[in-house]
Amino acid sequence: MSSSPQAADPLPYYEQVRPETGCLPPRSWYARTDAVRLALSGGWRFRLAACADAHDAAFAAPDYDSDGWDTVTVPGHWVLQGHGAPAYTNTPYLIPLDPPRVPDENPTGDHLHAFELPADWPAQGESVLRFEGVESCARVWLNGTELGEFKGSRLPHEFAVGALLRPGRNVLAVRVHQWSAGTYLEDQDQWWLPGIFREVALWHRPDGTGADHFVHASYDHLTGEGTLRVESTVPGRVRVPELGVDVATDEPVTLPVAPWSAESPRLYEAELALPGERIALRVGFRTVTVQDGLLKANGRRILFRGVNRHEFHPRTGRAVDAETMRADLLLMKRHNVNAVRTSHYPPHPAFLELCDELGLWVIDECDLETHGFHAVGWRGNPVTEERWTPALLDRAARMVERDKNHPSVIVWSLGNECGTGAGLTAMASWIRERDPSRPLHYEGDPSCADTDMYSRMYAPHAEVEQIGRGEDDGPPRRAQLPFILCEYGHAMGNGPGGLAEYQRLFEKYERCQGGFVWEWIDHGFAHERHGFAYGGDFGETVHDGNFCCDGLVLPDRTPSPGLTDFKKVVEPVRIEGGDAANSARITNRYDFGDLSHLTFSWSYAADGEVLAEGTLDVPPLEPGESAELKLPPAPVGREVGEETHWTLRATLTEDTSWARRGHEVAWGQFTGTARPAARPVSGARPRRSDPAEGHDSNEGQGRQGGQLTLGPAVFDARTGSLRSLGAVPVEGLQLAVWRAPTDNDNGAPWLPDTELAKRWRALGLHRMQHRVDSVTVSDHAVIVDGRSAPAATDLGLATQLRWTADGDWITVAVTVTPQGDWKLPLPRLGLSLALPGGFGAARWFGGGPGEAYPDTRGGVRLGRWDSTVDAMQTPYVRPQENGARPDVRWAELSNGTRTVRIEGEPGFWFTARRWDTAHLDAARHLTDLTPSDRVYVNLDHGQHGIGSASCGPGVLPEHSLVVGPTEFSFTFGVLGARGGRG
Ligand code: GAL
Repeated sequence: MSSSPQAADPLPYYEQVRPETGCLPPRSWYARTDAVRLALSGGWRFRLAACADAHDAAFAAPDYDSDGWDTVTVPGHWVLQGHGAPAYTNTPYLIPLDPPRVPDENPTGDHLHAFELPADWPAQGESVLRFEGVESCARVWLNGTELGEFKGSRLPHEFAVGALLRPGRNVLAVRVHQWSAGTYLEDQDQWWLPGIFREVALWHRPDGTGADHFVHASYDHLTGEGTLRVESTVPGRVRVPELGVDVATDEPVTLPVAPWSAESPRLYEAELALPGERIALRVGFRTVTVQDGLLKANGRRILFRGVNRHEFHPRTGRAVDAETMRADLLLMKRHNVNAVRTSHYPPHPAFLELCDELGLWVIDECDLETHGFHAVGWRGNPVTEERWTPALLDRAARMVERDKNHPSVIVWSLGNECGTGAGLTAMASWIRERDPSRPLHYEGDPSCADTDMYSRMYAPHAEVEQIGRGEDDGPPRRAQLPFILCEYGHAMGNGPGGLAEYQRLFEKYERCQGGFVWEWIDHGFAHERHGFAYGGDFGETVHDGNFCCDGLVLPDRTPSPGLTDFKKVVEPVRIEGGDAANSARITNRYDFGDLSHLTFSWSYAADGEVLAEGTLDVPPLEPGESAELKLPPAPVGREVGEETHWTLRATLTEDTSWARRGHEVAWGQFTGTARPAARPVSGARPRRSDPAEGHDSNEGQGRQGGQLTLGPAVFDARTGSLRSLGAVPVEGLQLAVWRAPTDNDNGAPWLPDTELAKRWRALGLHRMQHRVDSVTVSDHAVIVDGRSAPAATDLGLATQLRWTADGDWITVAVTVTPQGDWKLPLPRLGLSLALPGGFGAARWFGGGPGEAYPDTRGGVRLGRWDSTVDAMQTPYVRPQENGARPDVRWAELSNGTRTVRIEGEPGFWFTARRWDTAHLDAARHLTDLTPSDRVYVNLDHGQHGIGSASCGPGVLPEHSLVVGPTEFSFTFGVLGARGGRG
């Protein structure tokens, strides 16, 4: 790995495939030591040039006058600090494909940092200058002497600098090029963000310290013993006080221990005492194997409930601070995430320490992707060309050496989307040789020749099922391997849909060992004009729009409803209604632990109002076991005929490192007494009136300008359209089928049959035309017959709205009869209407508190919820359909004085917002959404599912809103401020 004499390469260093010159061999990162370190983070002098050779190297001279330069923060990206701009692409390279050459236009940042060497900096030993991450190529000088240069953006590089350090002031100069030969290996789907984006520090290396150490800590589940052996290049002692261990380096010791797992991340504080340095270690005993076609940890099959995590912060890009890393992991743990794939490069080294501590299985992925070569039929793909192999091996080694001592890292991944090639095989062989204790992952080679697991991305459910059954006809080696989805559930915008159906397959087929949702966080930059910016918002000529906003959390790390759904879908305890009445079935779905750390409680509610609650004794149950438990006798409701349900919750009994006691891990809900049938509504007679006369009359007055009154409702007598309820004006009540397409409705142009929204628009569903054919006033009803249809086709929906009243309540029974041969599902089917803007307070009995769609509904539960129209919006970075609450029995919108109540039969999808669907559809950014003086309400009988077609399979047939004859009804009334109905 260290520099060696090279044949002269006519290209400048940044275009050479050679990964580095002058660097020390890679070694492990560690946080705690008694050797001193000097952090060099902070304000650095900075100037930007448009090309690589705009300035000569003279700036590196220690007395160089950098007056007039700007200052940037290191770690950081200059494009986020007022110099140039970020750019986003998914697969396209931003430079011509002419490896390893780069264009003359090559933003180059000169960084200068003068620092004081502490007076007590040890004179003996060596000192190394360590860079944790620089994108994409750096050339380094200290006090005017060149140290070397390197590529490999998300990997560490070190230089020995002891001989160059001076007492007092030292000047470090770093020239960073945005484009280099390394760029060809770093085509991950993310923002292009040059800069010194991870820490730079001076590490003292005392005499008598080792070049490196390797902690081997395995666990034998049959004996319950762990074996510890710490390899060190310099002999020393290894001490684990808690275990009474004090052995020489390289000497194995075997003794009873508690194993490390993601569920129970038991770490032992240890010390590696070398003659010159004491290094604190945290040892986790665990053994990972692929055995009997299964990926096992400590002898057991594990199930990945994983997410793909890019490093991202909405202000600082891939310069992610320690608190943010911890916040990510806490949020993950609290949402039942147990695994992270570090897509698509090794994360900040401190992140893995946190994974050790908090408990997550990690697939550590190398900083390697060449996806953009697919655009030229993979011609010139670096992994197929021998000249690149040293660079690939350098990357593999820098990852493995840096991260090898983390118990959380259980799998090495060669990289992402590089096609296939001998370079990958070379990496695999090197890694296997260096660390045979961890299996290998790589998704891009269907032969699985170099990997220990069969990995796919976005495989449809049916394919996963086939693989689970062992019916995929792959090469023989592949058939013997465990199966994972390294990416699934594309969480772009609203969604992903279909997670629950995947989970069922993972639970049904041993071989299907779970997956990693794509992805953790939306990469949207905080932006003054746009709220959050995505591709194209910085004037990029080549970009991939909002495809970077595809996370389970919004850019500011607010959990999106997709994360709430995921939490429920993957929960480690399944709670369902039992076979007998008043009973529950509890299943332990942990991989290792029993349920003794959980407290179970129940509540019993009638019409969503809790009548009684208590705790439940649940036997500890081993993984995989389940028990049917008797619940207490159902408390008597207040009224016969009410709908009742049980809710059971499993919460933490004690504080953990990732959540407080009382944190809810799992829950289940099931029906006690089913919803009673709707009350019959009849009685009131319609009355006609002429508003000019100011009095009601039952005499026909003609329909011109006249009104019809029925119960609390006033209609336009000619059009039959609803004008008011009580004294509340109502506008535009009509059939609604359109929704602002979600990213998953839009689909992916490169995936066949996914662009549903395009077909919806081609059909004209976004501009339906409505017609009233007749308004019939009978003794007890106003009947409005009509037709809604898009232009230029004979497809249509015949509608009948039959209005009847009972006292202060009015009911509309809607019948929809399709005409013609509908080949597409509808986006939604229901009624829309508008109320005055003051009706901004919402209450409902139904699914909540958050949004849900047919295939994303895991996270919502039945109950009574209070919110506001404003708070009911999910601020997806690119505005789109959002905010529906499912299974709503009744909803109320109040202006503080009056309350409009809507009851549905059957339950409905309730959505309310301050803009209409057309406005939502037209918006490109959150800041385009300007509140109107109306509250637009959608009362949907049906919603089409969400699916994952923005990069994967669409909506499953069972969640598709297929057009067919449909009936549903709503009852409206206006109440006082507090709402409610007796
Ligand atoms: C995958 C890729 C990811 C991301 C995702 C779509 O093909 O590995 O990096 O691009 O698709 O968001």
